Amino acid sequence: MSFRIFRVTTRSDFTLPADLQASPEQHRALLEAILAVSADLSLAETLKHIVTAAAQLANARYAALGVPDETGTTLAEFVTHGLTEAESARISHQPHGHGLLGLLLRDEHSLRLRDLTKHPRAVGFPPNHPPMRSFLGVPIRHKGRILGSLYLTDKLGADEFSALDQALIELLARHAGLAIENARLYAQEQQLRVIEERQRIGMDLHDGVIQSIYAVGLTLEYVDSVLADGDVAAGRERLRLAVEGLNNTIRDIRAYILDLRPRRFEGDELIAGLQQLLAEFKANTLIRVDFIAEPGAEEALGPEGRLALFHIAQEALSNAAKHSRAAHMAVSLRQENGQVSLTLRDDGRGFDPQIVERRVGHGLNNMQDRAQAAGGQISIDSPAGRGTEVKVLVPPAR
Ligand SMILES: Nc1ncnc2c1ncn2[C@@H]1O[C@H](COP(=O)(O)OP(=O)(O)O)[C@@H](O)[C@H]1O
Ligand SMILES: [Mg+2]
Repeated sequence: MSFRIFRVTTRSDFTLPADLQASPEQHRALLEAILAVSADLSLAETLKHIVTAAAQLANARYAALGVPDETGTTLAEFVTHGLTEAESARISHQPHGHGLLGLLLRDEHSLRLRDLTKHPRAVGFPPNHPPMRSFLGVPIRHKGRILGSLYLTDKLGADEFSALDQALIELLARHAGLAIENARLYAQEQQLRVIEERQRIGMDLHDGVIQSIYAVGLTLEYVDSVLADGDVAAGRERLRLAVEGLNNTIRDIRAYILDLRPRRFEGDELIAGLQQLLAEFKANTLIRVDFIAEPGAEEALGPEGRLALFHIAQEALSNAAKHSRAAHMAVSLRQENGQVSLTLRDDGRGFDPQIVERRVGHGLNNMQDRAQAAGGQISIDSPAGRGTEVKVLVPPAR
């Protein structure tokens, strides 16, 4: 048996050709441009960063970035730099990608022209388009596919773009290709998440709410049959059960909505954040709430500790709403032996923390992870029938 060893030589695509010398300023500008194009995850923002960075790097009055549609022959998007809003509004239509611009969508090579209007493929400008002469077009590729093209026009301070300009923009284009691909992947991932979330909500509604309403329906059918037999007392009892079932369902849906609602908390105002959380909790569950915040406790925490406490409170409240059947909830934020404590106690039915399944990525586990990540610890105390107490201790910020 014989082996062949392949050595992968990477002639680095990410360096300037050896025969072109860039000044330290140009190197710095290149670095800035590269950082700028990869600063954002949104595709629209990324495209804007790319045109702006390219115009600055090559000293062009105008820059544009065209992204082809699926067919690869026409422009799906066209982002510009250098035109004022009024100027671009006056231009009758965006380029279709038939002329010079289209050439670059199909050709792998850059195109550098002293006067773009003299090129045989030039189709002329639409009405009200500012005149442009010098031209530098560079395709943006990623893994062999053309993702778009960069077009720079009207070199400032010279009649045409230089070979060094071209090399710099080609380098930038490679990073731009990566950035565009990244932004696209990110958008896809976000879409997937939304789809997963929808499936989860659908399943939850099916397993929870639909089943409960179905059960109420069965109870009501039963009322019909006992009334037909003339048993009014039994009929009444069944009606009472049906009403109770519906009320429970309403409570479950409210708790579910409370759990779904995304909350933004940046770790700045913990007490205000908790107050808002508790107000929503109260409105949705009709559970009474007491909240005590000792002066100085919030101030002792850094943003990390605040964030951890907020998220733990959110999960503990959502659990109380879903599982506790409590009538009252007591929340306190205090300082204890040099630590900051947050306690959430409900007077509901309690559960055995040893017995419940600790699922990865679920509430109880998440609370523990959050507390540990902030350098603290959490205890969950829940004697059956006597409510649940969640208590977190986190160290103060130094
Ligand atoms: N405040 C509470 N009162 C009663 N039971 C609770 C409470 N908090 C948690 N539990 C029980 O612990 C289990 C696990 O909680 P958790 O990990 O948050 O998962 P989930 O809320 O998704 O069911 C719950 O299903 C419930 O049985
Ligand atoms: Mg939970």
